[in-house]
Amino acid sequence: MPVAESATLTSPPEGAYVFDNDSPHANELHRCLGAAHDGITTARLAQTGVGPGWDCLEVGAGGGSVALWLAERVAPGGTVLATDLKPEHIPARAGLTVRRHDVVHDPLPEAGFDLIHFRLVLTHLPQRRVVLGTLLRALRPGGWLQLEEFDIDYAPVLLAPDRRTREGYEACQAAKGRVLRAAGADPSWGRKSAEDLRAAGFTDVEPVPHLMPWTADSPGLQLQLHHTYHLREALLEQGLTDDQLLAAREAMTHPAFRAASSVLYCVQARRPA
Ligand SMILES: C[S@@+](CC[C@H](N)C(=O)[O-])C[C@H]1O[C@@H](n2cnc3c(N)ncnc32)[C@H](O)[C@@H]1O
Repeated sequence: MPVAESATLTSPPEGAYVFDNDSPHANELHRCLGAAHDGITTARLAQTGVGPGWDCLEVGAGGGSVALWLAERVAPGGTVLATDLKPEHIPARAGLTVRRHDVVHDPLPEAGFDLIHFRLVLTHLPQRRVVLGTLLRALRPGGWLQLEEFDIDYAPVLLAPDRRTREGYEACQAAKGRVLRAAGADPSWGRKSAEDLRAAGFTDVEPVPHLMPWTADSPGLQLQLHHTYHLREALLEQGLTDDQLLAAREAMTHPAFRAASSVLYCVQARRPA
């Protein structure tokens, strides 16, 4: 459930990650992220053949659901290092090492991993191209990188209860794009990530776009609803009105509302052998 309105944060400063893990909204954010996307993430990760003995790095692990999946997968004999700027939400588990680590500024071991994964992290980081170079060097030759990142520019309403709720939803999503961009994020980076991986020196780059139906009972739309609480102050600062915010929430909780999700790009690539 969303946390009460009074717990909302003010606008994040430029260059700051907008969905701060210290926020009282973080647990629900991580629950929605896992429920909405773990199926896509783990099905594709499994295609790499990740298994016993592999050494893996999960960057910006958030609530840790993918890191936990990897830790089970690589046992026995493998290792998983789960990192985050604020790693307090990553659970402790045998086979899983948790570390506070800023992927922009802190070093990683050279050629230390067979597989590196991140989801919805580099979209937030203006230095994303430099980070891709760091991650390439942290992979062993032939090692795998997998990412999932959104392009939020496509997410049309398909059926709304009425014009007010449709327009409120659209205004809210547009304001969120402005919040993210003002903080230095590129919320359409998903569609550019494959080109950036190739430019960074990765090979075998394979992007797969995913679209999901967003309905009131889907975790994807629950995540969007949750953002309206987490980012309320920032959305209003970016020009959303109180009535548009209420209309957007009405849309997202109405049983007749239907939207297409943003496009989630799942991209695999390898360090040249
Ligand atoms: C949108 S959340 C995604 C969490 C998780 N990857 C998932 O998809 O469920 C982004 C995560 O990246 C982390 N993060 C942001 N900037 C980071 C940085 N510079 N270095 C490491 N982690 C960072 C945040 O703290 C947060 O946990």
